[in-house]
Amino acid sequence: MCGIVAYIGPREAYPVILKGLKRLEYRGYDSAGVALLNSGLKVFKKKGKVAELEENTIGKDLHAHIGIGHTRWATHGEPNDRNAHPHSSNSGKLAMIHNGIIENYAQLKQELVRKGYHFKSDTDTEVLLNFIEDIKINNKCPLEEAVRIALKRIVGAYVIVLIDQDNPDTLIAARKGSPLVIGIGKNEHFLASDASPIIEYTKEVVYVNDYEIAIIKADELILKNLGNERQTPFITKLDMELAAIEKGGYDHFMLKEIFEQPTTIYDCLRGRLDAENGTITMSGIQKYADQIVNAHRIVMVACGTSWHAGLVAEYIFEELCRINVEVEYASEFRYRNPVINKGDVIIAISQSGETADTLVAIENAKSKGAIILGVVNVVGSSIARVSNAGAYTHAGPEIGVASTKAFTAQLAVLTMIALKIGYEKGTLPHDRYMQLARELEAIPEKVTALLQQHEHIKQLAEKYRDARDFLYLGRGYNFPVALEGALKLKEISYIHAEGYPAAEMKHGPIALVDETLPVVFIATKDSYHEKVISNMQEIKARKGKVIAVINEGDEQSIKLADDVIIVPEADEILLPMLSVIPLQLLAYYIGVSKELDVDKPRNLAKSVTVE
Ligand code: G6P
Repeated sequence: MCGIVAYIGPREAYPVILKGLKRLEYRGYDSAGVALLNSGLKVFKKKGKVAELEENTIGKDLHAHIGIGHTRWATHGEPNDRNAHPHSSNSGKLAMIHNGIIENYAQLKQELVRKGYHFKSDTDTEVLLNFIEDIKINNKCPLEEAVRIALKRIVGAYVIVLIDQDNPDTLIAARKGSPLVIGIGKNEHFLASDASPIIEYTKEVVYVNDYEIAIIKADELILKNLGNERQTPFITKLDMELAAIEKGGYDHFMLKEIFEQPTTIYDCLRGRLDAENGTITMSGIQKYADQIVNAHRIVMVACGTSWHAGLVAEYIFEELCRINVEVEYASEFRYRNPVINKGDVIIAISQSGETADTLVAIENAKSKGAIILGVVNVVGSSIARVSNAGAYTHAGPEIGVASTKAFTAQLAVLTMIALKIGYEKGTLPHDRYMQLARELEAIPEKVTALLQQHEHIKQLAEKYRDARDFLYLGRGYNFPVALEGALKLKEISYIHAEGYPAAEMKHGPIALVDETLPVVFIATKDSYHEKVISNMQEIKARKGKVIAVINEGDEQSIKLADDVIIVPEADEILLPMLSVIPLQLLAYYIGVSKELDVDKPRNLAKSVTVE
């Protein structure tokens, strides 16, 4: 949610920032802008994607060795040039970029208006910037000091980065709640919301902590807390290659990421699952294995696609571990004063590791004595750091805004945890444990086989692309897959779609069924199969169009359905990792056939760092 980039050092700042913004565009693309300091402060900003900013700066004097840039996901104020970041202060000397929300901005704005400040935008950011400027002028103090004083009065979440015309060799940055990474080069520093804009210049980074202020010169990085005490920067080595964040010959990141799934699931299992010897090694989880085995309750907390992974995991954990599991939307969980008992285990599931609601939900639960396990993709992210322990999903950078490979990797990790706990607890018998371990190991190969059907799914996309609505139905382990299929289609193609438990369809959605409505059944061979076939018949009786995701040889479904997609067979616990893939492809190809920007669907952002 909003991407920030900044640079200070011997290079030309503008190309570094522009390239960085393109890498961070998944975080928001309502507008983009840069501020550069040379002999004076220059700000360029434009509604729309980074490419529009780039076009708008052609022929301008962009020479500078220090600058800040921003790509926006609008919170306060509509997406337009005026509300685009960077904002400049009333004196015209300071410029600032911001990712987050300042909750008490209205009150601060009133105070500033009374003092004669004027505002060019509707943003909370411009208020914070002028609040800082006002403190700087009144206290006759350095910018760093003004920032520190201001932040003590701020309610909300932020990463801010400022430049000051009167002090052109220093960047000031601060963080609370939103992510900030500083890349350490030779006499240069790179700042960004995640490591992707930094990786090609340096692998040494510092993840700034909440309530820290960074004072950055080309050759010096000083970190201080809000009490003005020096903090030692903790340098981490990035374990990421540039190729992982490029399209590698695919038309879109989303397609690349769908096709990466055999590898990402394999990477996730690698070094952990040894099916032959029946061992699962997860050091983070092992430390808390006894507590999980003895837990009376596990709560999965997540948002979006990650929440769907939690729903699948609920079924798996209850089946294999016989532990009561609840799955919560983080945004609801954090605000409703949930009952949390000491020893409850909370599993936070998050691709980005930065989703604000999930982060705050686990911070609250942790303070009440819960054990927090993180199932997170981005290494070193906030959720990973707040968690007591956990397991990374190792899916590599996911850039397409609609989550695909992160989902299947989350399922792989959660399944391994459930297998491990169920086996240690004794609720999962040895033979079944061994069988599931072997089947899990075979999943990447089955995904490879499944992906070969992409041309067939592309044809289905052409056939159904003009539908106004879609229904996705599944039962048991495939019910969350129905939700995920519907979410993918909504996100990518802007077609209204709903996912339902197949039987629940009779309690309302069936009223929508007519000959124009495509209904996607996830009807693989599992314990619910016969029941799902009955539901399929109910749809056919009302002339709905049935697209069935089935296993080979399912004659009943083949007879009933208008179209089928065959997925390889697997134990029902593992089926979601397979059955979701054709739904990802269907959404992708429908989006592409409608000429939509599938990697950056309108209004969405990948990393939702505001609540
Ligand atoms: C956004 C993204 C989704 C993602 C959700 C949760 O809405 O567009 O793809 O599932 O956030 O994000 P997280 O990073 O916590 O998994």
